[in-house]
Amino acid sequence: MSDIAREAARRRTFAIISHPDAGKSTLTEALALHTRSISEAGVTHGKAGRKATVSDWMDMEKARGISISSTALQLEHRDHMINVVDTPGHADFSEDTYRVLSAVDVAVMVLDAAKGLEPQTLKLFDVCRRSNIPVITVVNKWDRPGLEPLELMDHLQQRLNIIPTPLTWPVGPAGQFQAVIDRRHDVTIAFERTAGGATRAGERELSDDEARAELGEPWETAIEECELLDADSLHHAPDTFLAGLTTPVLFAAGLLNFGITQLLDVLIEVAPPASARLDTEGNPRPVDAPFSAYVFKLQAGMDTAHRDRVAFARVCSGMFERGSVVEHAATKRPFATKYAQSMFGRDRETAEVAYPGDIIGLVNASDLRIGDTLRAPGEKVAFPPAEKFAPEHFATVRSTDTSRFKQFRRGIEQLDLEGVVQVLRSDARGEQSPVLAAVGPMQFEVVVDRLLREFRATTSLEMLPYSVARRVVSDDPSPLAGVSGVELFTRSDGATLALFPDKWRVRAIERNHPDVILEPLAADTSAW
Ligand code: G4P
Repeated sequence: MSDIAREAARRRTFAIISHPDAGKSTLTEALALHTRSISEAGVTHGKAGRKATVSDWMDMEKARGISISSTALQLEHRDHMINVVDTPGHADFSEDTYRVLSAVDVAVMVLDAAKGLEPQTLKLFDVCRRSNIPVITVVNKWDRPGLEPLELMDHLQQRLNIIPTPLTWPVGPAGQFQAVIDRRHDVTIAFERTAGGATRAGERELSDDEARAELGEPWETAIEECELLDADSLHHAPDTFLAGLTTPVLFAAGLLNFGITQLLDVLIEVAPPASARLDTEGNPRPVDAPFSAYVFKLQAGMDTAHRDRVAFARVCSGMFERGSVVEHAATKRPFATKYAQSMFGRDRETAEVAYPGDIIGLVNASDLRIGDTLRAPGEKVAFPPAEKFAPEHFATVRSTDTSRFKQFRRGIEQLDLEGVVQVLRSDARGEQSPVLAAVGPMQFEVVVDRLLREFRATTSLEMLPYSVARRVVSDDPSPLAGVSGVELFTRSDGATLALFPDKWRVRAIERNHPDVILEPLAADTSAW
């Protein structure tokens, strides 16, 4: 095995997905604490960020640039490198989450023990399934009263149509979390609280006799429940997990650091390593081929001291060395990487080398777009472009100060390029008032705020009465022109989009105009 293949094999790259408040940030902190990447919980995500209102979000973006958008964290555990790619907590920025999922090999779905499956979990889970990303489920907050564990397993099976294969099982009902039974190794692990959950929780491995004596009836109950799981053959199997048919389940309390070592162990033992990515031709790019990477995220203003733009790319093959010159596949221009960084919470660390699975941040990346490929000079490889997700909110935006129209136009172009919103244009509406399309309305607030802050362009926004966009794939969209309740637009990538007030209108048009083919965009809930 080559050195690069060996490095790839010890990488695990994952994203944590959850409904807001299920405990994603707390769990990320706990993982960092356990791998001793940070000495005390609370370093990567300030507590202030937890209960953010819209204005807090904006202020935080201004101040730190990391709350709305994703960052990556690299952890070392048992000679493995674990890349945690953070996803924004708020549902309105779920398109960023979707893009992050295109750069990872596995997702950790965090459920709140009291709430079980929530709307955003369902949506994100569906995206994982469509993107063939295997999912590990963590039932979090087991220290608080919640659902019955068997009931939760039923929910996974009934509502997500995925078979849960618990790897750990809680001793004590939700609210009285004392220990877990490790079903793979047939041992009980008892947890000990530490003050405020600020340091690693103590863990002791107990034999059955010790567990029975120490933990009593809750342990007997947990053993009986494990027997039920055995009777239903709910055991982890690598092939069904990788095929998305089963999900390994772990029980945890991120706030108390309970169940975190088990999650780290499962990540290295069960989650797939960085492996060959398919290029535009559908050929797998071996991890030890020359350098190639895929841009999945652009972020402006990460550092308020030096206004800049960072492109986040996942290394797909080869070794990346800081300072090397790589080629931007779209323009075939060289791209200098002197300022490449790996991200650690709010502070930047300079990345010297990176391997397949690692995330690199490239500063001053003004030519790069989401979905772009970077490669060693002379290589031919390119990866498929990023999918655009189905917007559900639409608004026209106008410059209210005609003397700053040029800046307004430049700002809109820039935000479009970064993927902050999709920008739609039509002859009827003209260049003065493009239409912005977003997955969540808070994206519009980010646009208005950034136009003002970065381009000094004051704007007014007017919501439009549409909720569904479909791509018109027929050569001739003209039968739709002038049809009431439908408006046609050209997106900046050249695609023709038709906007509709609701899915019923889409169905009626499909019936009346069978000659026009309307294709749902990715993650379009109206098409499910
Ligand atoms: P998110 O990133 O998924 O949005 O969730 P986050 O980690 O911010 O957690 C949301 C709330 O849930 C926080 O409480 C957090 O402390 C709490 N929490 C997270 N994990 C656990 C857990 O394992 N057990 C318990 N009991 N609570 C947990 P908050 O009141 O919003 O904030 P804070 O004042 O505690 O910081």
